[in-house]
Amino acid sequence: MPRFGIAVVLVTLGFAQAGMRAASAKASAPEAASAKASAPEAAQDGVTPTSPKCPSISTAVSSAAPKRASAQGPAGDRESGKAIWALGNTSCRNCHGGDAEGAFAPTLAGQKFPFDAVKNQIRKPCGIMPAFIPSQLTDQEVADLVAYWNSLPAPAKPAAWRTPLPAGAAPGQLLAIQLIGCAQCHGATLDTPRHGLAQVNGDWEWFKHQVYEHQTAIRGHWAQLDPSLPQVTPGPAGPPGRNRVRMGNYERKQLPEPVLRQIFDWAADLGYLPPLAAEAMAGAQANAYTVKVINAGVKNKGIAAEGVNVSVILPASANVVSTTGTGYQGTQPLDNMSKVAVWRLPRLGPTEQEMLTITLSAPAPDLHGTIRWAKPEVKADQVVLFALRRGGRGAQASN
Ligand code: HEC
Ligand code: HEC
Repeated sequence: MPRFGIAVVLVTLGFAQAGMRAASAKASAPEAASAKASAPEAAQDGVTPTSPKCPSISTAVSSAAPKRASAQGPAGDRESGKAIWALGNTSCRNCHGGDAEGAFAPTLAGQKFPFDAVKNQIRKPCGIMPAFIPSQLTDQEVADLVAYWNSLPAPAKPAAWRTPLPAGAAPGQLLAIQLIGCAQCHGATLDTPRHGLAQVNGDWEWFKHQVYEHQTAIRGHWAQLDPSLPQVTPGPAGPPGRNRVRMGNYERKQLPEPVLRQIFDWAADLGYLPPLAAEAMAGAQANAYTVKVINAGVKNKGIAAEGVNVSVILPASANVVSTTGTGYQGTQPLDNMSKVAVWRLPRLGPTEQEMLTITLSAPAPDLHGTIRWAKPEVKADQVVLFALRRGGRGAQASN
């Protein structure tokens, strides 16, 4: 076989197979959906959706020319690879397992993959994996990852899926979780993409653009967001200066528009999620707290939330001394032990903020609360939780 034979074979296979998989997904997405839905065991942990059309690159390569392939590419450093994997900017782990042991996607640990086959899968994936470009993961970083995986023992079994398929999933959800895998990164109800939709009141065109031209579309989206507002959709990742986009690129031939449309229709039907957030902080006075409630949408574009209820859960031993802010409703019992202080804001439009304050009779080091809203109605993710900030921004936005 000529020197670049393996790469050529893999590229050819990759295109042909991606096309076949796409074609069959297109033709049979609803049938596949109902077939899989009626056999929920198929989605159980440890079962990967690897297409038979995409044989493992280890099989493809070892049967072809095992020695030559591993000589190609930059020398990898396993410690750097471990760090890249752990940092998770490209979220490979969401599909391939926290320790590369496999989950939704195949096992990478201990497979002795050669660099060129891995690089090929990353840049021009076979199957439903999105492609990652060099600004997201450089060739050197790919080599480091390969060195890291190859230094690991082959795992006994794959990990549980990050986002398992719930019983009775609608066809759109089944596509998102099991067949395409968006939900392995975005969670079972695609909450951050639904936040993104609400931030700009996006439509199908917007959504499609975010998926098929993600690298440019997301930068356009980020450019419209006010950086002083809390992040409700993940921002660029990586060390300063890298400013990376994390989600890979999808092509229409691997993810045909009618399939993506089903995912969009299902997500839109769950409801555009108003990008509400609250920052709770200890005030200047003893036992005084402030809660800043924000709609992080884009001005003149994003959707407003109406009938916004902000509840602060009070410690059992504390009473309300005083409050400020729009629409204070007094306290209401939460259960036998505790009460909540409630504000009702008639409307919170994009970029609007409301500052609420509360002074208690006793300290509340674990002060926390919830935001709910009446409109727009949503079928999932109806509550935003917030807690007192303790130095730093708290947990990073999940993706
Ligand atoms: C959305 C889930 C998903 C993400 C994210 C993802 N992959 Fe994959 N990956 C897959 C699937 C699924 C396959 C198997 C190909 C198929 O049948 O679709 C695969 C295959 C592979 C393979 C080939 C494995 C084999 O046995 O042939 C490698 C290598 C790989 N991925 C590396 C990566 C790296 C590196 C990243 C991050 C930059 C990544 N993947 C991100 C889903 C994912
Ligand atoms: C590897 C993990 C991963 C997968 C798989 C993935 N996404 Fe994303 N997606 C992200 C991240 C992270 C962002 C935030 C922007 C960025 O850094 O790329 C994002 C951004 C988006 C956005 C823009 C709004 C926002 O949330 O910022 C949309 C819309 C979106 N994704 C939809 C999808 C759909 C639909 C699929 C499946 C076809 C999908 N994503 C698959 C990780 C992923």
